[in-house]
Amino acid sequence: MNYRHAFHAGNFGDVLKHVVLLELLDALHRKPNPVHLIDTHAGIGLYDLAGDEAQRSGEYRFGIGAVLADLQAEKILPRYTAALKRLNPELKPGGSGLRRYPGSPWLLQDSVRPGDRVTLCELHPQDAETLKRNIGRDPAVAIHHRDGFAAIKALLPPTPRRGLALIDPAFEAKDEFTILSKAVLTAQQRWATGQLVVWYPIKDQKSIEAWKTALAKELKSETLCIELTVRPAKDARQMSGSGLLVVNPPWQLKETLAPMLDFLKGRLIRETGGGVRITTLVKAG
Ligand SMILES: C[S@@+](CC[C@H](N)C(=O)[O-])C[C@H]1O[C@@H](n2cnc3c(N)ncnc32)[C@H](O)[C@@H]1O
Repeated sequence: MNYRHAFHAGNFGDVLKHVVLLELLDALHRKPNPVHLIDTHAGIGLYDLAGDEAQRSGEYRFGIGAVLADLQAEKILPRYTAALKRLNPELKPGGSGLRRYPGSPWLLQDSVRPGDRVTLCELHPQDAETLKRNIGRDPAVAIHHRDGFAAIKALLPPTPRRGLALIDPAFEAKDEFTILSKAVLTAQQRWATGQLVVWYPIKDQKSIEAWKTALAKELKSETLCIELTVRPAKDARQMSGSGLLVVNPPWQLKETLAPMLDFLKGRLIRETGGGVRITTLVKAG
């Protein structure tokens, strides 16, 4: 396990993932019933952008840095910028004062209301320890040092039954897309009403299309696909974008996200040929 998310925290992939995640949490919280939020590949929960890893890669500058530099960010991404502000009280419009970046576990924990539960899995031993330190003792949050793919069978369906599972692997294994498809189908089989949010990197768009088409044939519920590429995705050696599948999306997610994606497009795309799109992969039954 060589992947360390600290090098990538706040990059364009994280921005898309976390903007969408916060909209899904908001939609879930429109009803008072408690929810269970699961993160199968949690990372360490909180990232220091002044730290060695983030500074060495510099990826956040072309992600969260570029987004916050636009003074419209607060208006167009109110939930995302508010979460960043809660974590960085000294954050100013334009982005100065940004020091810490929230991982998905922090965002999930931050959203918790009485009765809600959060379950986080992280396999890397050191990262699992750091995650425990960063999230702290919270009776609403369970942290497991275990394989998130294997945990799907054990954790689903959760109690309470409403909620979402984020599946956000590191894509280190050659067959990770195959493992991911199996995990998504298992999750759907065990928890037909659960929302699943599945992150994937886009290198070569053609192979991504083939993967999605095969998976779509097996999926039984409405599924949206949200993608952002910062340059044409033609090079299998380079991550040019990322995507999210949302199984069982909330009502009007497409419409809610449209202006946000348009804004992100303006801030994040680095070469002609990059773009954003939101499509229906599987229609509602
Ligand atoms: C992309 S990062 C997660 C980022 C996090 N979800 C966020 O948005 O802040 C993927 C994480 O999965 C961990 N990991 C890799 N294989 C795993 C597995 N089989 N089960 C659980 N965690 C795993 C890696 O150590 C890494 O921290």
